[in-house]
Amino acid sequence: MTPDAIDPEAVAPSVANLETIVSLSKRRGFVFPSSEIYGGINAVWDYGPLGVELKNNVKRAWWRTMIQDRNDIVGLDAGILMHPQVWVTSGHVGSFSDPLVECAECRRRFRLDELPGTEHLSQTDLRDETVTSRLGLVCPFDAKPLSAPRRFNLMFTSHMGPVEDDGNVVYFRPETAQGSYVNFKNVQQSSRKKVPFGIAQIGKSFRNEISPGNFVFRMREFEQMEMQYFVRPEEGAAEAFEYWLPRRKAWYEAYGVTPSRLRFREHAPDELAHYAKKAIDVEYRFPFGWKELEGIHNRGDFDLGNHAKASGANLEYFDQASGEHFIPWIVETAAGADRAAFTFLIDSYREEIVRDETRVVLGLHPDLAPYKVAVLPLLKKRPEIVEMCHKLLADLKRDMMAVYDDTAAIGKLYRRQDEIGTPWCVTVDVDSLEDGAVTVRDRDTMTQERVPLEGVKRLIMDRMAAVRP
Ligand code: GAP
Repeated sequence: MTPDAIDPEAVAPSVANLETIVSLSKRRGFVFPSSEIYGGINAVWDYGPLGVELKNNVKRAWWRTMIQDRNDIVGLDAGILMHPQVWVTSGHVGSFSDPLVECAECRRRFRLDELPGTEHLSQTDLRDETVTSRLGLVCPFDAKPLSAPRRFNLMFTSHMGPVEDDGNVVYFRPETAQGSYVNFKNVQQSSRKKVPFGIAQIGKSFRNEISPGNFVFRMREFEQMEMQYFVRPEEGAAEAFEYWLPRRKAWYEAYGVTPSRLRFREHAPDELAHYAKKAIDVEYRFPFGWKELEGIHNRGDFDLGNHAKASGANLEYFDQASGEHFIPWIVETAAGADRAAFTFLIDSYREEIVRDETRVVLGLHPDLAPYKVAVLPLLKKRPEIVEMCHKLLADLKRDMMAVYDDTAAIGKLYRRQDEIGTPWCVTVDVDSLEDGAVTVRDRDTMTQERVPLEGVKRLIMDRMAAVRP
């Protein structure tokens, strides 16, 4: 890979302080701490009225790019719970773990590679039993010695049925990918797809992360958007990898993420997940550093090969053109819906000075914005104006998310919509009653134009279509 041209240290995050986004999210109803009235539960977050719209829009945008716009990828929605053997065969029972260390004094537990002073450790170092004493690593709370690292498996377990014993343990899936692998034959045969083709899924995954945090960046319950691309062995996978890598980065850019805040990072050989032959992350410059946004993985025949062996099912593909039978290799694009939504939220945040006042704007791409349009009355005391607003609102709502607000003066109403990313506001005023026209105001330019009432919906739909990637 060619090194990045931009000095990563020189790239500033969109917001200096994560707290700006956390507080906006809470105040405006994007994201709330889970079970807050009971003091919250670590690493689980709830999406509020605006957050659920944003996240649904992110998932829709991904589905559109990965499935709707293509002929070679189909969708799937597999169960979260699967036969427990799936996770033994996939290697997750044996290898899906992070290095955990414990304070000898306070018993607090930490993920070794998240501790200060471990930034440059290799995966080999992280497995070395002497690493904590050799480097003199201590507990960040009381500076007492830390234990040697041990591997901590990240899968949540439960029991299926009314008896709780080892015989009926089930795992909460830590990735959606396995559902696509065990359904490879079902999907391929029912959809009559020829290799290369893909199976895409969006759904919840669960990981008992040792040190979750940074708001919705690392959670214990989260959503993934994963696509498994089945290809001819070896060179088919190399080609597919090169094909998907730039496209996945370009997807974030197409929906508005600043290109200089995105980069690729290749995994070192000893850092690769147990299933991966090669992995490159798309990273984003979060306020807390460059971190993984999405992973592109060449999984070889690891998954289908192992599932074929362990289950006895024939997972070979017959290539009619060449007359060959083979186990397809897999190139995976693995994104997080929460992490993507979070990234769009952070990256779109800006503060501007307008007439000596700070204007906060979420410059979200219109496809991602929770509301596409707000309908606002200039005078809420005039029933004819309010009635006109509601008529327009009802018409707009047939095709898009729209909202009405009359709880403040117009300047304040505009600012509220700017702060939640609404691309257009429509204002009905006294003149509207005479000339049947309304004012459409643009979030980014703040320009206003007079538009006949019956042309408003068309105008907004055309503008949305014009910027759709
Ligand atoms: N199937 C491969 C796989 O799961 P991964 O890199 O472990 O690969 C893929 O996860 C993506 O899922 C990550 O890039 C991230 O966006 C998201 N993700 C993983 N763990 C997460 C967590 N604890 N909280 C939020 N998102 C997470």
